[in-house]
Amino acid sequence: ISLLLQIPDDEKGYKLDLFCVPKHYEEDLDQVIIPHGLIMDRTERLARDIVRDMGGHHIVALCVLKGGYTFFADLLDYIKALNQNSDKSVPLTVDFIRLKSYCNDQSTNIVKVIGGDELSTLTGKNVLIVEDIVETGRTMETLLSLLSECNPKMVKVVSLLVKRTPRSSGYRPDYIGFEVPDSFLVGYALDYNEYFRDLSHICILNENAKEKYKV
Ligand code: IMP
Ligand code: MG
Repeated sequence: ISLLLQIPDDEKGYKLDLFCVPKHYEEDLDQVIIPHGLIMDRTERLARDIVRDMGGHHIVALCVLKGGYTFFADLLDYIKALNQNSDKSVPLTVDFIRLKSYCNDQSTNIVKVIGGDELSTLTGKNVLIVEDIVETGRTMETLLSLLSECNPKMVKVVSLLVKRTPRSSGYRPDYIGFEVPDSFLVGYALDYNEYFRDLSHICILNENAKEKYKV
């Protein structure tokens, strides 16, 4: 079991005024729960752990869109920095898949694969799946079972966040950035009906905003 940074349920977070938050979201957020700098520092260490375990082999990093794209880009930058600055290095290629399971703040039972390359290109490869958040675990379990049909050599999953929730199936990723309380989080590419991806910090969405951006 890998280490993770636990954000407790009674975490008060930080006042919005302490950081830079887009004007158009000021009314929608209560607190900054994970500032951007802390996300970056934790991501740097995840990159080191991943290279330690998967290094030596070619890695295909598979980004789960759309929510995973910021974490994916930052994680790969740190892996690239390790490659550039040590005697050992590992070739890295990228691939993308798009999954959708959410409407408003509710996970639906159906996980839809909408776009991406043929998964069959991953046969025989060492695959690192990069995800933003695991809640029930259903999205990841679905993706893992789809992927196993293509016989990759190795599959590891890194998720920036894992939610502490009774709705969890028990699934745990191989690498976890932070374990977070059971609230709806936005920012750093995590969205609510496509909004809040353009926010750097991870914040808790307030109830007004859930109504305001409802579809
Ligand atoms: P799961 O299938 O229930 O594990 O949900 C995983 C997916 O739901 C993630 O890939 C996210 O896209 C989305 N999701 C779950 N919780 C949140 C949240 O708090 N904010 C934004 N998206 C979320
Ligand atoms: Mg996602």
